Amino acid sequence: MAATETFSEKLLYEGKAKQIFKTASQGEILIRYKDSATAFNGEKKEIIAGKGRLNMAFTKHFFTLLENNGIKTHTVKYTDELSMIAKKVEIILLETIVRNYAAGSICKRLGYEKGVKFEEPVFEIFYKNDDLGDPLITQEEAVSKGLASAAEINIIKNQALAINEILSKYADSKSVTLVDFKLEFGRLPDGEIILADEISPDTCRFWKKGTTDSLDKDVFREAKGSLIESYTKLAGILGVEL
Ligand code: TMP
Ligand code: ASP
Repeated sequence: MAATETFSEKLLYEGKAKQIFKTASQGEILIRYKDSATAFNGEKKEIIAGKGRLNMAFTKHFFTLLENNGIKTHTVKYTDELSMIAKKVEIILLETIVRNYAAGSICKRLGYEKGVKFEEPVFEIFYKNDDLGDPLITQEEAVSKGLASAAEINIIKNQALAINEILSKYADSKSVTLVDFKLEFGRLPDGEIILADEISPDTCRFWKKGTTDSLDKDVFREAKGSLIESYTKLAGILGVEL
């Protein structure tokens, strides 16, 4: 890297909630969490001071829990309260969703009443494409579009369901219901698929056990109260170190 290279020249990618920077190591990137909150494909947008730090803390907490339970993630190390170093992966353009209870888009799409418990966890994939509004996609369509092979989707499904078991059990032990969540996976240069991106109340729905009271981004999506207050309260309940 040239000695004259500026911070902005190191920026590889900027998303809605995170920035990705080059590092001195070819196989690694630096991820920095932003203080921005968006919903409805970016239509609703706000800067919320302290949100980046909270989501970083949740991701560190959940990824460490998953690593301790045998799930491989992209994390190399957590560097400060806003950033982490991760392995550079090719992000698979599928948003993987697991649902335990009906909420959000499945209620609109299939007419479920909010709060209905599914007999078995529901696995869904969405095409990660902002221009198309991240549409639901079938496994066959994802394969035919070259987004992932059938074998890769099978690995992603098994990983997502294993992650659901670990996180649901953990949340339940803290009197919180894990309603649903979104995961993103990436390919390492040797083709191995590992968990990437983040796990936070931006990407999961959490309800106080026995209720449908949100402790997640629905508070912002539905303008139901303070995002920072809800995330901080959830961190306290789950034992997330802030
Ligand atoms: P949905 O009910 O809107 O499809 O959302 C399902 C889960 O995925 C929920 O926990 C929120 C999360 N999610 C994201 O992380 N990013 C997104 O862009 C969307 C739409 C949902
Ligand atoms: N993350 C998505 C967006 O910003 C939507 C959401 O989380 O509801 O638009």
